[in-house]
Amino acid sequence: MALSVTRTGKTFVAVVEGVDLSQPLDMETVEAIRQAWWEHSILVFRDQHISNDQHIAFSRHFGDLQGHSVTDWLLPTHPEILVLSNRGQGGVKPLKNGGAYWHSDITYQAIPPMGSILHGLTVPPVDGDTLYADMYAAYEALDDETKELIEGRIAIHNYKLRYLKMAQGGIRPEPTAEQLAEWQDVEHPIVLDHPDSGRKALFVNEGFTMAIKGMDTDESAALLQRLFDHSASEEFIYAHKWRMDDIVMWDNRCTMHRATTYDSEKHDRVMHRTTIKGTARQQAAAA
Ligand code: SIN
Repeated sequence: MALSVTRTGKTFVAVVEGVDLSQPLDMETVEAIRQAWWEHSILVFRDQHISNDQHIAFSRHFGDLQGHSVTDWLLPTHPEILVLSNRGQGGVKPLKNGGAYWHSDITYQAIPPMGSILHGLTVPPVDGDTLYADMYAAYEALDDETKELIEGRIAIHNYKLRYLKMAQGGIRPEPTAEQLAEWQDVEHPIVLDHPDSGRKALFVNEGFTMAIKGMDTDESAALLQRLFDHSASEEFIYAHKWRMDDIVMWDNRCTMHRATTYDSEKHDRVMHRTTIKGTARQQAAAA
């Protein structure tokens, strides 16, 4: 069966068929997937029975991989894989409410990831969806006055506050001195010029965006809240209902996502994520 890419009802999500990700891929197939990724932002592959090694090999076609500063969540045998699981798995600590707030991955680093590839290994029978937001569409739908207000503005991102809040709530271990030292403020433009599509995307998220540089504190908080609320509007959202062995691959520069709740006392949920490093070119385009 030839590779086929079919847009879903949502304009930024496509289903890819005709490829077996457990097998080595030729350059032509990889290029076709890459082009589809830039075009659609989110790609869904169904029924992919892949091992950890195959997940990593597929991900590496798109760039170098990065782990996470909380190494408790990395699979010891495959530290390129972040395990999101309510019970823990393979020596990895449970991650309660992992990603359960709107965010783009790791925007608290100077060069945020290009994208992530999530494999659903165990999925609850109901709920536990992942919501994705189209940040191109969110930007394009802003009124002209707001577009003018945010053009050229810089936002400050940091993980510390988000993490400490969860540690205080007992759902994260106390951070180490090393982690606290690592989680410093970084700056990103509010409007990101996507280096591969040439389109503009809104690049703020309630997970990690703390303030707008050079703006009065209250004004900054109000504008950010308005942008967070706007980008999480129903019209920009796709809800992925997981089936076992789904793979979802997202472009981190023009989407945000959020895990939703499920009955974690009754059901297990185990997801493996690889994270593809961003590039300096991406950062230069954004700066
Ligand atoms: C993530 O935030 O990367 C994972 C989302 C999920 O588990 O649904």
